[in-house]
This record gives sequence, C-alpha cells and structure tokens, in this order.
Amino acid sequence: MKIVVIGGSGLIGKKLVNNLRQRGHQVVAASPSSGINTLTGEGLADALAGAAVVIDVANSPSWEDKAVLEFFQTSGRNLLAAEAVAGVGHHIALSVVGTDRLLASGYFRAKMAQENLIKASPVPYTIVRATQFFEFVGGIAQSATDGQSVRLPPALMQPIVSDDVAAALAEIAVEQPLNGTIELAGPEPIRMDELVRQYLSANRDARKVITDVRARYFGTEVNDQSLTPGHNPRLGPTRFEDWLSRTQAHHP
Ligand SMILES: NC(=O)c1ccc[n+]([C@@H]2O[C@H](COP(=O)([O-])OP(=O)(O)OC[C@H]3O[C@@H](n4cnc5c(N)ncnc54)[C@H](OP(=O)(O)O)[C@@H]3O)[C@@H](O)[C@H]2O)c1
Repeated sequence: MKIVVIGGSGLIGKKLVNNLRQRGHQVVAASPSSGINTLTGEGLADALAGAAVVIDVANSPSWEDKAVLEFFQTSGRNLLAAEAVAGVGHHIALSVVGTDRLLASGYFRAKMAQENLIKASPVPYTIVRATQFFEFVGGIAQSATDGQSVRLPPALMQPIVSDDVAAALAEIAVEQPLNGTIELAGPEPIRMDELVRQYLSANRDARKVITDVRARYFGTEVNDQSLTPGHNPRLGPTRFEDWLSRTQAHHP
C-alpha cells in the first residue's frame, strides 16, 4: 500500500516511516526538507498520486498564537484538497488528548481548527488524539523554569513514548477509517509535578520542582481531567520509568 507521511522527518514521522517500511508498505516521507510543503503546495500532488492513506504528523515551526493557527489551517486546507483530487481513501491526523478542553491556548485552538477541517472534508478520516510524549517532558520543564525552580501543577497526565505512538499509527493505517476520533495514551497515570521531578532527577538536573495548584501548563489552567484520556484509550505499553532508565543507559 502507498502511504504518505506528512512531517516524515519529525520525531514521530521518522519512526512512523521506518515502522511502515518494515511492514512492507511503499512510504513517502514528506516534508519541506524533501521538497513537499503543505503550506505552499510544492510537491504535494506528485507525492499523493496513487496514495491509499495519508498520515499527517506535521507540526508548526512556530507556536505563537497567530502563526500556529495559520499553519494548521493552511496546511490542512491544502492537504485535504489535494487528497480529494488524488482519491486518497483514509486521512489520519495526530492531535492531542483534551484539545477541546484547552482552548484557552492558541496551540490547541489551532489543533481544533485542524480537526474541524478534517471533519468537514469529504475524505474518510481517523483523528488520533495522543497524550504528551515522554520526549516532551523536558520541554514542559523548560516552559515552567524560573532560575532553579520549576513551578508546576499536580494535574494528572498519562504520557506515552513516541515509539508507541508511531506503532499505533502504523496499525491504524491498515484499519478502516473511523470517521471519528480515538485516544492514545501511555500505560499509567502520573501527576505533572512528579513526572518532571522524576525526569530531572534521572538527568541529574539540579532544578527543583515546586508543586503549585495555580501554576499553569503553557499558560493554561489544567485539572485532572484536562490532559487525561476518556474511558477507552488505546494504550502504549512502555512505562515512563523504563524509558527513563533506558535513555539514561545511553547517556551515562
Ligand atoms: N509533543 C507532544 O507531546 C504531542 C502530543 C500529542 C500530539 N502531538 C502532535 O504530534 C504531531 C507531531 O509532533 P512531532 O513532535 O513529531 O513534530 P516535529 O518533530 O516538530 O516534526 C514536525 C514535522 O513537520 C514537518 N513540517 C513543518 N512544516 C511543514 C510544511 N510546511 N509542510 C510539510 N511538513 C512540514 C517538519 O518537516 P522539516 O523537518 O522539513 O521541517 C517535520 O517533519 C504534532 O501535530 C503535534 O501536535 C504532540
């Protein structure tokens, strides 16, 4: 089967492309660095010719409110229009668990706009909302750092490793389009302050996490429901603790 991965050079994209190739699919890894750009339309029609499935795991280079909205709207419109012309049978997009609960954030308003374009398009689709990636925990710490303090709320999360996200997307690629949304999460819930504490400690990072119920997550208030999945998420098997010790083994 010919599958196009939009954002094929990114964190998830690279792993997804490898995974799909191992399963014997013909895969196009599409990104501006390979001459395929969903903002300008460059290379898009050629890349999509004969494709059965498109998996969109691209991300905006800027997370500034206006820029990120512009990215997901323009990219989504161009991509879905080109897919309709090419007769693509399944559009799969990676979004974020809780997107509809986090609309105080410009990033999530942009992800919501991306999802709405997909739902309004005639192309059959599956929206896959994943929780935060383990690889993103360092970014959460960074965003909340002031000097040697990292101030974070104790909100529940259920993060997942990028390899498990890529593996789930590769399976969904051969399933029927749901014309709906599924959630993807890691195997266990953990509080944000504790997650970052474990991460910093494993990396021998001297910063201290201060638990503060009023601290925000990228500028947005969060509670135990904001970032956690509903009743029936697909679960990735990898535990945060095991990932931490594995990544530590590579970087002693
Ligand atoms: N971070 C998290 O915890 C999390 C959780 C749930 C869902 N998500 C979602 O997961 C998705 C993938 O995230 P990621 O961290 O894997 O992204 P990433 O590593 O930042 O990769 C972004 C990809 O998008 C490509 N791209 C940028 N502009 C493009 C354009 N104009 N046309 C085509 N491709 C373009 C980049 O290509 P170049 O390399 O050529 O620039 C790159 O391949 C995002 O949609 C994000 O919302 C993230």
